[in-house]
Amino acid sequence: MADFSSLGLSDWLVKQCKQLGINKPTPVQENCMPPILEGRDCMGCAKTGSGKTAAFVLPVVQKLSEDPYGIFCLVLTPTRSLAYQIAEQFRVLGKPLGLRDCIINIAMNKPFFWESKSETRTVEELDQRYILTPEKVKDAYLVHLIQTFTDEHDDWSIIIFTNTCKDCQVLTMMLREFNFPTISLHSMMKQKQRFANLAKFKASVFKILVATDVAARGLDIPTVQVVINHNTPGLPKIYIHRVGRTARAGRNGVSITLVTQYDIHLVHSIEGQIQTKLKEYPVEEKEVLKILTQVNVTRREIEIKLESTDFDEKKEINKRKQLILEGKDPDLEAKRKAELEKIRSQKKKFKLKIQESIQRQKHGQKRRPPHYCCQQVATKTDFSKTTQNG
Ligand SMILES: Nc1ncnc2c1ncn2[C@@H]1O[C@H](COP(=O)(O)OP(=O)(O)OP(=O)(O)O)[C@@H](O)[C@H]1O
Ligand SMILES: [Mg+2]
Repeated sequence: MADFSSLGLSDWLVKQCKQLGINKPTPVQENCMPPILEGRDCMGCAKTGSGKTAAFVLPVVQKLSEDPYGIFCLVLTPTRSLAYQIAEQFRVLGKPLGLRDCIINIAMNKPFFWESKSETRTVEELDQRYILTPEKVKDAYLVHLIQTFTDEHDDWSIIIFTNTCKDCQVLTMMLREFNFPTISLHSMMKQKQRFANLAKFKASVFKILVATDVAARGLDIPTVQVVINHNTPGLPKIYIHRVGRTARAGRNGVSITLVTQYDIHLVHSIEGQIQTKLKEYPVEEKEVLKILTQVNVTRREIEIKLESTDFDEKKEINKRKQLILEGKDPDLEAKRKAELEKIRSQKKKFKLKIQESIQRQKHGQKRRPPHYCCQQVATKTDFSKTTQNG
């Protein structure tokens, strides 16, 4: 295996890496750094936590140290927290150069492309589990899991992913009622608050982070040992990013996905993508049932509390703010959306009419017999049953 010097890094930068515990290049670094240093465009594709950031940060810092004049780099990231995290990497690795900010060049002329060849898309160190649960027992499982983890481990951090901002808020408040050190991260929070919460979680002041998918990509927090999916992600890609917040850089980690009977088909498609079967996570069901009523009552109380605040109103305001930031008029957008919806529903009706007339023609211009409708409904019900049961 190559070392960083043989890939073209200067001694001072190799030393800088060592200070961060980065001694040997990972495959994505070994394969992508030389073409980047040659000045070629490069696209690297590798598993979560495999060091993709340093794969581009190091060559950029190296180039800047060779000729600091006029070189610039623009980094585009899907979320602001990620931009912040990457900027920090640049600052730490480029400390001797006094780097403060960084940018990535998005010119994409025939980029060099490297993809790690692997059958699975998640790392081996990750123990991927599921718990099959009815919707109304989900929270009791969650509380039970967290209680067990916190009883057994002092130094563990947990990320819980939720589907919506409101769910994220409710679960955070609920877990706090049970005295778990919990903090949240979702898009309805102000950026300043998001940074502050993330910093407190990184510093282990709070051991549990409840987050929406704003935290699913790129976040690198080594203490995260457990990822819990409170909802089964609808897209395998989201699942891969979420569970990739643990078991990073060769460490071990566990992911537990709470699955209801309606989500089984989603689990199948996740398993198909990651080429790995999720294993059932063993839980003492008796223990879960003992706390079920208490958990559900607590949740309901919190929901009522939240309903009396302006949480939903804030959501609406945030949506409007976002549209204004995108240079759109929120009222005009609402009008457009309503018109589009109207056109869609007209199209749907029109399509249905055409289908009906084709059917009538097929049946020799006869009108549909009444039992035809019943058959359609029955077939549909059977199908949904099949998908629900996987
Ligand atoms: N060569 C290396 N040896 C050991 N640790 C490394 C090495 N390169 C990077 N790391 C560490 O690995 C961790 C994960 O790196 P990074 O965040 O770049 O992963 P990633 O591939 O971008 O993951 P994701 O797909 O989740 O964004 C970081 O804490 C980083 O410091
Ligand atoms: Mg990354």
